[in-house]
Amino acid sequence: MNLNEEELKQLEYLDILKDIIAEKEKALGRKLTCQVTTFGCQMNARDSEKLLGILLNAGFVETEEDDADFVIYNTCTVRDNANQRVFGRLGALKSHKKKNKDMKIALCGCMTQEPSVVEKLKQSYSFVDLIFGTHNIFAFAEYCVRMYSENKQIVEIWDKTDKIVEFLPVARKYSFKSGINIMFGCNNFCTYCIVPYVRGRERSRCSEEIVEEIKSLVKDGVVEIMLLGQNVNSYGKGLEDEVSFPELLKKVEAVDGLERIRFMTSHPKDLSDELIKVMAESKKICRHIHLPLQSGSTEVLRRMNRRYTKEQYLALVEKIRAAMPDIAITTDIIVGFPGETYEDVLETVDVIKKAQFDNAFTFIYSKRTGTPAASMEDQVDEETVKKHFDLVLSTVQEMARTRTKRFDGREVTVLCEGVNEQDDAYLDGRMSENTIVHFKGDKSLIGTFKKVKLTEFHGFYYDGVILE
Ligand code: SAH
Ligand code: SF4
Ligand code: F3S
Repeated sequence: MNLNEEELKQLEYLDILKDIIAEKEKALGRKLTCQVTTFGCQMNARDSEKLLGILLNAGFVETEEDDADFVIYNTCTVRDNANQRVFGRLGALKSHKKKNKDMKIALCGCMTQEPSVVEKLKQSYSFVDLIFGTHNIFAFAEYCVRMYSENKQIVEIWDKTDKIVEFLPVARKYSFKSGINIMFGCNNFCTYCIVPYVRGRERSRCSEEIVEEIKSLVKDGVVEIMLLGQNVNSYGKGLEDEVSFPELLKKVEAVDGLERIRFMTSHPKDLSDELIKVMAESKKICRHIHLPLQSGSTEVLRRMNRRYTKEQYLALVEKIRAAMPDIAITTDIIVGFPGETYEDVLETVDVIKKAQFDNAFTFIYSKRTGTPAASMEDQVDEETVKKHFDLVLSTVQEMARTRTKRFDGREVTVLCEGVNEQDDAYLDGRMSENTIVHFKGDKSLIGTFKKVKLTEFHGFYYDGVILE
């Protein structure tokens, strides 16, 4: 694997950090502990694996406790409640730091790309030692070295980057499955969404590099990968070799030893017939597609800048189901977008019923400073939103129950993902369609595929038994 200049530089910083941590360990007579907490989406989860990879390599041991020697929050700002949670938890950290003067606190991720947040941290949260953003996360080792040698708050926020730095240590949460970034940023500017402002413009990684990384993951025991991007359907734009997303999928499918492929997220406006064809012919691509609807009202969709209509969305769902009748389709829905009326909400309810979603994440619209929707007239009052939200949620739940029940009694293949939290004689497995199954089994099976018969339906998951 050829490392680029930046990657080599960061590995040198990692060596310096190792020495610093080893010295501290000697002085304390114990290992230093670290905690990485992730807010937000799969992209952040993947970034956190990189942060933890650096810290474990530097000599820290991981803990879930809040009084760790080093706590880092990888933040999300897609809705305001994510921000509130971070500020709430920072308050609690302050009291831990009073007891452990050597404790270090860092903040990174999407929230720190907002100037107002950084201002607030500088003014009122001076006990936060290190603040950096989404574009320079690869320089984490370098910033840690500075944090331990300079006695002041370090703030390193870039407003963009053209660098793609990927081959640094990663501590994967699961040994058998992994996310992999295929692109960064977003160019869509849906009017409610802050992601394009905090993650920057869309950039794709070149396909050879992606395939090379997947091969090395497979060598390391990974059997399932999830290709990650805000809009995977527009993968490849601007690349020299202009590989499209369906073409990338074909290259990934050809990797020996890889068993399952997932991807997230698909924007309906860019979902091609070619993608449907490649999925339908594939043996490895899972029978699940996450296709965010946001609203069922064409008028609301127009104001959201989603660039499809209710009818186009439904036609797309029909096309996908015609090619893959059993596929699970899940979605995201926003309730309470400025100007949304009861009639608009009924349109959303209509789409939920017609599209028969297997599941849907339903969000209350959150006003994000700097986005076009934040200054739109007719922001909907809280009480109305609550009423509309309850209606959408109950429709979604009813539909999810009805849809998921179709598997009852079937024999399916699951990937054994972990020990069940409630009863450790049981395992949790995941179907290709993303449905979870609980069944009796030994933890030695984790990471393997098993045939399971679905015996009892519980609303959104199943109980099952392993078939020998
Ligand atoms: N790139 C993905 C979504 C990323 S954000 C896509 O376009 O599909 C994940 C979800 O958060 C979105 O699908 C949307 O439903 C929700 N979301 C984004 N901004 C929001 C806001 N301001 N208020 C409420 N929900 C929001
Ligand atoms: Fe946000 Fe729209 Fe981009 Fe998704 S496609 S990240 S919702 S701007
Ligand atoms: Fe949140 Fe950033 Fe993901 S805002 S949803 S963590 S891209």
